[in-house]
Amino acid sequence: MLKIGIIGVGTVGQSVCQILEDNKDIITARAGVELVPVSGVVNNLSKKRDVSIKLSDNVDDILDDDSIDIVVELMGGVEIPYAVVKKALEKGKAVVTANKALLAYHRYELQDIAGETPFEFEAAVAGGIPIITALREGLGANHIESIKGIINGTCNYMLDKMINEDIPYDVILKEAQDLGYAEADPEFDVGGYDAAHKLLILASIAYGIDAKPEDILIEGIQNIAPADISFAKEFDYSLKLLGIAKTRDGIVELRVHPVLIPNKEMIAKVDGVMNAVSVVGDKVGETLYYGAGAGGDVTASAVVANIIDIARKGKGSPMLGFKKPLEVGLKLAAKGDIQTKYYLRLHVEDKAGVLSKLTMILGDKNISIKNMVQKPYDENSANLLLSTHTCNEKDIKEALEVFKKENLVLSTPAMIRIEE
Ligand code: HSE
Repeated sequence: MLKIGIIGVGTVGQSVCQILEDNKDIITARAGVELVPVSGVVNNLSKKRDVSIKLSDNVDDILDDDSIDIVVELMGGVEIPYAVVKKALEKGKAVVTANKALLAYHRYELQDIAGETPFEFEAAVAGGIPIITALREGLGANHIESIKGIINGTCNYMLDKMINEDIPYDVILKEAQDLGYAEADPEFDVGGYDAAHKLLILASIAYGIDAKPEDILIEGIQNIAPADISFAKEFDYSLKLLGIAKTRDGIVELRVHPVLIPNKEMIAKVDGVMNAVSVVGDKVGETLYYGAGAGGDVTASAVVANIIDIARKGKGSPMLGFKKPLEVGLKLAAKGDIQTKYYLRLHVEDKAGVLSKLTMILGDKNISIKNMVQKPYDENSANLLLSTHTCNEKDIKEALEVFKKENLVLSTPAMIRIEE
């Protein structure tokens, strides 16, 4: 028998206990040993929880209990769970976590501390989708050329409703919170940080890249306006928040931002709160993973899978997928070196000469326009909505600065990247 201690017995923790009970027979057969949750740690002992394990409000009741084999960390946050997980690993306990923020900041230190002690985190990225296992084990033969993921259900739900039902941003954010999709602080969702944490974990497994959130481009969905949605509809695009990793010439771009994707792409059809990750390997081609990214049973399904795996084989795989560092690894691309296509929304005076000045500035930066429409804004001004061919992030940012400096735009231009 292996004994499990759960730190943070909220929705997911309760689901872990329930699954271990409901599916005990098949789990025991698969694990080869009985897996028993015995104790839990919570902040507030007076809150009612639907579990039969012994509860305490002191983490040391689990960490100092030598009979506990596996610690499941479901607290949330970064520094406090880091201290807890570190102590659990130092005591030789296997750890399973669903905590993406913890891994976004501390995965390499934790890998070092873990050494030969199992440390698993399938639930940290895309909830119930086994994307960590797929990347680390199933695609181990490949150079990963790209990863494109809808890895924040809240943003996907909101964008779906904004584009397909014309529901305003504020209304739909409130609804997502009421439905329980959003993080405790929804800025983590709409600001792109939750997706960035998950992307960094995937990037470590795919490329061995040790980057932190501040090293990569992160933009959220807060500034998407009805005009952008009408452009998307007019040119047959869907609008998604994507986590993107893409390799080119020895570098890897890591970025999270809203993206216009042609409606014909499979990932464009992933609606509502669902998650999906497309991974392209040099040998396997494109593989696509789809499923629920959040929820008690969904997340607990991944946590329990890790527990079974630990029971079966102990330290089966290196935590982040590499037994030794790559001799010639990929370098992280600087934020300005990103190359993609762009959509721009420019609010301008509706008078002679404005368009020619704008296009001249774009031309000077070697930015070529693909599509353009003008929509009236009010009596004297208009929105110019345009898309470009592939160009450099640095060039487009500089062009937007020149527009502002030369007073060619009446408000800050909006920019959305296009992936096609
Ligand atoms: N807030 C996250 C989401 C939960 O919306 O996807 C799962 O990490």
